[in-house]
Amino acid sequence: MTDDSKVGTADIGVVGMAVMGSNLARNMAHKGFTTAIFNRTFAKTKDVMDEHGSEGDFVPSETVEEFVASLKKPRRIVMMVKAGPATDATIDQLTPLLEEGDILVDGGNSFFQDTRRREAKLRDMNLNFIGCGISGGETGALEGPSMMPGGPKESYEHIGPILEKISAQYEGEPCCTWIGTDGAGHFVKMVHNGIEYADMQFIGEAYELLKGIGVTPDEAADIFANWNEGDLDSFLIEITSEVLRQKDAETGKPLVDVILDAAGMKGTGTWTVQEALNLGVPAASIAESVFSRAVSSSPELREHAQAALEGPNGIKVDDREQFIDDIRRALWCAKVVAYAQGLDEIRVAGQEYGWDIDVAACARIWRAGCIIRAKLLDRISNEYAANNLVTLLEAPSIKAELAACQDSWRRVVARATEAGVPIPGFSSALSYYDMVRAPRLNAALTQGLRDFFGSHTYKRVDKPGVFHTLWSGDRSEVEIEA
Ligand code: ATR
Repeated sequence: MTDDSKVGTADIGVVGMAVMGSNLARNMAHKGFTTAIFNRTFAKTKDVMDEHGSEGDFVPSETVEEFVASLKKPRRIVMMVKAGPATDATIDQLTPLLEEGDILVDGGNSFFQDTRRREAKLRDMNLNFIGCGISGGETGALEGPSMMPGGPKESYEHIGPILEKISAQYEGEPCCTWIGTDGAGHFVKMVHNGIEYADMQFIGEAYELLKGIGVTPDEAADIFANWNEGDLDSFLIEITSEVLRQKDAETGKPLVDVILDAAGMKGTGTWTVQEALNLGVPAASIAESVFSRAVSSSPELREHAQAALEGPNGIKVDDREQFIDDIRRALWCAKVVAYAQGLDEIRVAGQEYGWDIDVAACARIWRAGCIIRAKLLDRISNEYAANNLVTLLEAPSIKAELAACQDSWRRVVARATEAGVPIPGFSSALSYYDMVRAPRLNAALTQGLRDFFGSHTYKRVDKPGVFHTLWSGDRSEVEIEA
């Protein structure tokens, strides 16, 4: 280290001075922590010092050795580098310089299975590895994100107080808590993103329905702003209103009308669905949201289908105001179902991976700082804390409101279907609601068919045991030995 006075002075260090990393480091410095900063290429570190060096107590380093030496022990390092090989490369660069008990936090969007692998590797080296989901985008990183750390619980004692201080606060409570061991934090962040996809899909469907009855973008902006005053109060509804109101400088048209209707994605929604499939958790609304983006980004498919397929066009409603209110209720119901599916995925994963996850706490730390922050999350977290819920849908206040809103929801799905307005999210959520409450499902016939063509056997409703019908014989039933 060139400057000995810097050795052992920093409370925490951040590696990776791109947008998220530099903003998180500034957040730490703003909160009074002496913050060591390092980037693979020094130019970025220098830029941060030039532009923001006076905002707090930063300790910049040009080499990784200097950076590590500048930290107090046990060393606390947050990596904010590109997920994937860059994260492994950074870990490999840092670990030879670390000592027993040091804590390495991965604040990137890593896949939770990678986090599990890395945590196990560092545990063998007597180092603490924490996979920390961080949501809130660049503003969140700077002003207070929602933080989902997972890893060895003992290390939370050393890193938790700093993370809680830089996280968003909801009515004085930090939006950060220890989630569970190894990959639990990144898993919860992944599902957060899956729910975010569903939230945005539902908002998109609501807007399409409003458009279908002749509502203009400006009027829709007012409607969403109005919805944001009630049960739907959330960051995404708030910014929907702003996006809808925006005009394109070049054409003067509403911006939403000139944006190409092809939604991109970075993959966390896909992971949420893949993992739901692996765990056998029916997260169909989240899946529909991912597939909807895929449809939007399939120009060839859409071009051919557009040329080939016919269907109705335009919604007919007798009472416009009533229908707008129906859409608001349908949006709320669908949103609740997406949260129910996402939280169910977290609950089941907790059992599968031995994480002992507190679902109420997950909802609690999403109340501020993150993209899906919403008034509803306070209620969800209280419901999980007060009741031993298997599904959010059985929570007393939720089931009552679903019961009260479902006529609207059904009307919206029916009208949209008749009118040819695609609403995969709303209708999938409604089918889920009807499936999970059904006393009997069509699975009986499915099982009968499986037994017919593949001797896959079936169980009976009236007695224990496993049975098979001799379909190609005399069609009598035989009991299969266990
Ligand atoms: P953000 O989304 O915040 O803009 P990101 O793309 O997730 O950023 O991560 C970029 C960071 O990862 C940068 O700090 C980058 O270092 P450079 O500025 O030197 O490019 C870092 N990074 C990318 N690839 C890396 C690698 N192979 N090894 C180490 N760091 C790497």
